[in-house]
Amino acid sequence: MKLSVLLVISAPVLVSAQQSLWGQCGGIGYSGPQNCVAGAACTTQNAYYAQCVPGSGGGGQTTTAATTPRTTAPVTTTRTGTQPAGTGLDTLIKAKGKKYVGFAADGSGQLNDATLSNILRTEGGSLTPENSMKWESIEPNQGSYNWDTADLLVNFAQTNGKQVRGHTLLWHSQLPQWVKNINNKATLTKVIQDHAAAVAGRYKGKIYAWDVANEVIADGGGMRTSVFSQVFGDWTFLDVAFKAAKAADPNAKLCLNDYNIDYTGGKLTTFIQVVKDLKSRGVPIDCVGTQTHTSVGSSNIGNYKNTLTMLAGTGCEVQITELDIAFPSTSSSSALLNQQSNDYKTIVGACMSTSACTGITVWGVSDKNSWIKGKYPLLWDDNFQKKPAYTGFIAGINS
Ligand code: XIL
Repeated sequence: MKLSVLLVISAPVLVSAQQSLWGQCGGIGYSGPQNCVAGAACTTQNAYYAQCVPGSGGGGQTTTAATTPRTTAPVTTTRTGTQPAGTGLDTLIKAKGKKYVGFAADGSGQLNDATLSNILRTEGGSLTPENSMKWESIEPNQGSYNWDTADLLVNFAQTNGKQVRGHTLLWHSQLPQWVKNINNKATLTKVIQDHAAAVAGRYKGKIYAWDVANEVIADGGGMRTSVFSQVFGDWTFLDVAFKAAKAADPNAKLCLNDYNIDYTGGKLTTFIQVVKDLKSRGVPIDCVGTQTHTSVGSSNIGNYKNTLTMLAGTGCEVQITELDIAFPSTSSSSALLNQQSNDYKTIVGACMSTSACTGITVWGVSDKNSWIKGKYPLLWDDNFQKKPAYTGFIAGINS
């Protein structure tokens, strides 16, 4: 019969049905159709869910949908239409006198993914471990360290000639309970010193810059409430952390990192004052990190250059440490993609025209790996296709 003839011709691997656009097509425990309709490709979102998303494939073709976790990259195909040339963002920015373009990544799932790791190798000059060096990951119990995931990233960087930004020695979040339970200054001082000595010491000479302390300023300004601020009662927990990091890895640049300092207000004012005070107390601080988790079309972006200039006024090196530009919701449009491209251009351009701004780290590679997945904040889409944002980034470098 006509239908079966067609199926034999078009589908060498016989599959009973085709999943519609946006439907599920694979994942652990899933037993439905693994093929997508024409114009859609089955793409693994995580071990439990693969989805038919717009793209090549489909139309009866057996796709990459998996019923077991996949550790390799999704199949990437050459799309029709223009894709910017693979010029390498890090190469481009270095040619303009900056130190690096970097990415956050972590774990074997990412670093052993052929497509993602190829982007890290060809487009980036620096890596930040997204989670593996955080206190709860690396020292979940006192004196007991999990090095494997952090080692994997540092080894990947060394093998491929990339810098590493260490992230982070002291942070109120992703902090194990045993540290939060400490209630006297002498103990906490020793614990901070031991932690910095162990972690920064292990990677001595292999870290370009350490986020020694992260997010210590309260939203709105002043000191964030944390075990550190409460036990010390003042900012001198920072002195302890920076001095311990300096002792452990004397050549690493030591940074204070925070978010929402990409616009003016009480938080930026406090941040700058804290850095100046650290310097005046002789505490070794070399750099300031502005995370720059921002939103497409944000009015703050037009003022971004101004905030970089204010941060440069501390006399420290300025680094953009966690850049991503989120959509307002989970719906996408070409207007938003283009606005996002413009926003990347503006932010990157602001760094280019600020001599103290030395490097830019984007907080992830593809939208599907982002910590705010669903808001399309990065330079590559879920299928590792370059977005207009990538072109905007290059335009910023060249601006
Ligand atoms: C985020 C990671 O991206 C997530 O995977 C994790 O679940 C939570 O932390 N500011 C920081 C980063 O300094 O460490 C955070 O990273 C994002 C906000």
